[in-house]
Amino acid sequence: MTANPGFVAPTTEADALGVHSLDQFVLAVPDANVAQDFYGSFGLDVQRDGNALAIKTLGHHHRWGSVIEGKRKALHHLSFGCYAEDLPRLKARIEDAGVKLIDPPPGFESNGFWFPNPESVLVEVKVAPKVSPASKSESQWISAPPGTAGAAIRQNWPPVRPRRLSHVLIFTRDVDASVKFYERTLGLRLSDRSGDLVAFMHGIHGSDHHLLALVKSSGAGFHHCSWDVAGVNEIGLGAMRMHDKGWTKGWGLGRHVLGSNYFHYVRDPWGSFAEYSCDIDYIPKEQRWPAGDHKPEDSFYLWGPDVPPEFTVNYEAGEG
Ligand SMILES: [Fe+2]
Repeated sequence: MTANPGFVAPTTEADALGVHSLDQFVLAVPDANVAQDFYGSFGLDVQRDGNALAIKTLGHHHRWGSVIEGKRKALHHLSFGCYAEDLPRLKARIEDAGVKLIDPPPGFESNGFWFPNPESVLVEVKVAPKVSPASKSESQWISAPPGTAGAAIRQNWPPVRPRRLSHVLIFTRDVDASVKFYERTLGLRLSDRSGDLVAFMHGIHGSDHHLLALVKSSGAGFHHCSWDVAGVNEIGLGAMRMHDKGWTKGWGLGRHVLGSNYFHYVRDPWGSFAEYSCDIDYIPKEQRWPAGDHKPEDSFYLWGPDVPPEFTVNYEAGEG
């Protein structure tokens, strides 16, 4: 037994080196009040922190995301967590790979180090608690016994509360080069891909099927953040609640092939998305996942409605 609650022992692979978690995503948007309304309506615990917003999940202390104000919506940076003993080794490996370290942006000083990805998106690696799950998250299917009603009336359903951040998907000009970059720098491993269209990467110390995903575009950008909920019913309820509040655009209900999760995406105020997700595949730290290269028809979904045309528009890159 460990005296450190929440501590998860690292992978037992002696020579493996990599981050353990996507610690936080940070977006810049023109109006933080709009973001507060959107993410609060989504069921997240959104707190003011000076000029920024801290995005948390109810009952969890971790800050999964931040929103700062900027001229236009943009992915500001991604922050990854590692074990303390791995930080100097990761730093040395990244520098040995020819990646230039840079100063942190103002207001984001930390115990870690910073570098740009090949498309100039900032990446931070810092020492932080492991917040990627230690095991597969449980999903619920509650069936009413005979003689009872399974569905309560609308007003009696409690709000949907996401349990944690699962992953983010970002745009890139070159999926293949990005996969190699994140393998080399962060020690992430490829879970599955579909050619140069999309790729999914996991952490070596045990994580969801993907904590970072990459999709081909004309430039860098933020596509979606994905939030784990308790079951398919919560996905539907969340989507309905968002619809009732005017956030009517999105895609779902459906099920992915790569990662296997059930989903509904709600389009955010800036043309990217927030995803309700449940039952995503989990890759234990003891296991090597057989990364596959899948046909394009398997890259999006197993079942669900047609993909809306705007789903892959990268407004940060000036598309649309
Ligand atoms: Fe997703």
